[in-house]
Amino acid sequence: MFYPQNVIDDVRMGNDIIDVINKYTTLKQRGSNYFGLCPFHKEKSPSFSVSPDKQLYYCFGCGASGNVISFIMQKENYDFVETVKFLAQRINYTLPQEQYSNEAKEKNEIKNQLYEIHKKAARHFYDNLNSKLGETAVKYLDKRNIIINIRRKYGLGYSFFKNDLYKFLKDNGYNDDIILESGLVLRDKNGGFYDRFINRLMFPIIDVQGRIIGFGGRSLDTSESGRKTPKYLNSPDTPIFNKSHNLYSINFARNSKTREFILVEGYMDVISLYQAGFHNAVAALGTAFNENHANALKRYADKVILLFDSDDAGEKAVLRAIPVLVASGIYPKVMQVTNAKDPDEFINKYGAKEFASLLSGSKSYISFQIKAKLKEYDLNDISQRIDFTKQAAKIISTLTSPIEREAFIKETAEITSLSFESINKEIKSIDNAAEINLNSKKYNIKKYKQSSVGVDDARRSIINICASDRLIGKKIMKILKPKELIEDIYVKALEMIFEIYQKEEVVYPAELVSCFQSIEEQRKISDIFMLNYNFENDEAVQNAVNDQLRLIKRTYIDNEILKISQKPDKSDFDASEINRLYNERRNIYSLNIMLS
Ligand code: UTP
Ligand code: MN
Repeated sequence: MFYPQNVIDDVRMGNDIIDVINKYTTLKQRGSNYFGLCPFHKEKSPSFSVSPDKQLYYCFGCGASGNVISFIMQKENYDFVETVKFLAQRINYTLPQEQYSNEAKEKNEIKNQLYEIHKKAARHFYDNLNSKLGETAVKYLDKRNIIINIRRKYGLGYSFFKNDLYKFLKDNGYNDDIILESGLVLRDKNGGFYDRFINRLMFPIIDVQGRIIGFGGRSLDTSESGRKTPKYLNSPDTPIFNKSHNLYSINFARNSKTREFILVEGYMDVISLYQAGFHNAVAALGTAFNENHANALKRYADKVILLFDSDDAGEKAVLRAIPVLVASGIYPKVMQVTNAKDPDEFINKYGAKEFASLLSGSKSYISFQIKAKLKEYDLNDISQRIDFTKQAAKIISTLTSPIEREAFIKETAEITSLSFESINKEIKSIDNAAEINLNSKKYNIKKYKQSSVGVDDARRSIINICASDRLIGKKIMKILKPKELIEDIYVKALEMIFEIYQKEEVVYPAELVSCFQSIEEQRKISDIFMLNYNFENDEAVQNAVNDQLRLIKRTYIDNEILKISQKPDKSDFDASEINRLYNERRNIYSLNIMLS
């Protein structure tokens, strides 16, 4: 799905980058650029810069960079097309009908079939559960106190023997290829087909748009020790399912009318909470909570209560999830149930009311981090007490709000019997050190980028020079082929620049950036244009360009030679081609283009 490039350009140019970003962070003009606090990471002094001329942004702290489209993609967590729609709406621009490429159409077709298969499979599992065969599973659900309405709401089902699902899908007209691609059926050594989920309670996994994209299956063998297969089995990753992106029950939680979510570990925790009236719980699907999960949450939640199992593993998982949430701008709170191993058990033992009162006492993540640190130290020992306090100060220094800081300094002062003032001073000195660090980082970036030594730097620098100086660009065009840059993204960028020059048009950096659809690519390209080369004179430019061209060309030829010599079939080993390449390689040393 895509829009024509001229439409994308219209939308991008209609949305001035300063104007758009100002809604997210306050920008102040300094020289020809604008500066502000980076909206992508926490910081106390501004290292986020925006260039109105280039229509690009760059953060010296975290390295985020891109154009107005990249910015909205990251800030609003939209994909490319959603972003174009958002920005078009902002300026009342009417978009044409979306177009599809053939390849996209095909991919789309496969995905649609997979959605269909999952929907049918879920229905089949559901029917199994409510048939004679589902008796054990029904008994199991009774035992776990899941009421009929909730079973239906979550579409719980039952998978039974051998290749029951495979046969069902075949009967529904699907071919083996697509059935295997769904991940629900596997092949055995003899080429036969068998179901992935056998004799399991089935939990359909549903995405934000309400489509079934995978399953979790719980073994109905309740003995913890004698079980031969894992307690829970999940669908593998498929074109429609990615374990490290999707969250269980997000389809319900997003409608819960609160922007404070509860993150739990298990399927059954989520379902028990829902049944008890807490509709805002989600779970990561047996993988560690990561940045993709956080991104998925960000659309619907500002705060997340981490409520993991009350064991060491749970505590460790909480400590790992905290920085992930903080980095993506979600405020984590922490709570653990008492006298129960997990929220599901707690609710079954003590009920919803007790749970609600426990929930209202969730602690700030800072307290949790400090308490966790505290376990490592013996405060009766003076040197350990000092070390602990320093660690606590470090944790508190990550906060920017003076009020929050004060609250936790007080807490730490109480724990350690040290004074508020000394802890506060300790934190101030951490602030100062961070400041110096940031400044030297800025310096390093400049220094590193001016001394282009590696071939990657050479490629970036050549693209930059070609784009920013039309005369030099046209000269380079005569002797450098885009493919000599080898790396796809650079090849494409240079091709576009040359194309623009052929049409006698001007290169706009922000325009090049939006020819790429993924954030990583956009960032890589816009990064190139944030380089500023301060050459002393024309001769210095001339020397740099020639050095870079030679390095790029030599690397390309060496790569070609390598490819030929690595061909497994030596019968078509082309000696004359190798000779030609070696000749060309020798000629590179006398290459010298005159720029002025
Ligand atoms: P738990 O073992 O804590 O599950 O794993 P639970 O919810 O308490 O299980 P019940 O109550 O006995 O049914 C928590 C989550 O980790 C994943 C599942 O997503 C599970 O819900 N998990 C666990 C797996 O993916 N595979 C496993 O073998 C076990
Ligand atoms: Mn449990």
